[in-house]
Amino acid sequence: MPKFTIQDFLKKKTERRKITMLTAYDYPFARIVDEAGIDVILVGDSLGMVVQGHENTLPVTMDEMIYHTKMVARAARNSMVIGDMPFMSYQASVEDAVRNAGRFIKEAGAQAVKLEGGAEIAPQIKAMTKADIPVMAHIGLTPQSIHRMGGYKVQGKSEASAKRLIEEAHIVEDAGAFSLLLEAIPMELAKKITEELSIPTIGIGAGHYCDGQVLVLYDVIGLFERFVPKFVKQYANIKEDISKAVMAYRDEVEAGKFPSKEHSFK
Ligand code: KIV
Repeated sequence: MPKFTIQDFLKKKTERRKITMLTAYDYPFARIVDEAGIDVILVGDSLGMVVQGHENTLPVTMDEMIYHTKMVARAARNSMVIGDMPFMSYQASVEDAVRNAGRFIKEAGAQAVKLEGGAEIAPQIKAMTKADIPVMAHIGLTPQSIHRMGGYKVQGKSEASAKRLIEEAHIVEDAGAFSLLLEAIPMELAKKITEELSIPTIGIGAGHYCDGQVLVLYDVIGLFERFVPKFVKQYANIKEDISKAVMAYRDEVEAGKFPSKEHSFK
């Protein structure tokens, strides 16, 4: 199977086939996701919470994102890899944005980048696209704006904010984004945006009308339980399985049962 490309994104939208996307942050999990045939792996800055144990995504640095993206890129044979631009890696200037986005492609081996925001980052999207760096935009609930939004709240519920989100969607499309991630917005609003745009939409907490879906892998497999949003469907409880294995090992070591002859050398 050839590597998934930005052209495949558009093709799938045209053919009304859903785009599949999951996060991964290291080699072993990225191998599993890639081998499962997921179209796109997002190295999300959600790693700040689910891997690093921070309260939110704001402390994540560019160097940390590059480190994780490199591990994922090494594992991804067929899935496209998108690097998530962390807080303050693109907000301050267009130059910062292009240089940092370039690092994801040049140093880390990603095929595209994602960044949060609408009209205010349209110049960044334009400049990155001009530099041949494919950009996925991200509007709705944007976790890097947690302090402005006052928490992780569903966006676009009032008529005015829904109208604004539709405008922002068109602005980022016009700026050159190849795809748009919609987070935590009403499903009918996501439907309208998906129908109006020619680029594919990827939903997370945005209902089933989007052209594709993304979730945080650790939510899907039950490895992160501190905060489970309503839109998450847990398909496994890996934390429970790992805990059982770790406790069984502890018990066997304490009881002198492990290692047995079978696991020892003569
Ligand atoms: O950082 C992240 O994991 C994200 C989600 C939307 C999947 O941006």
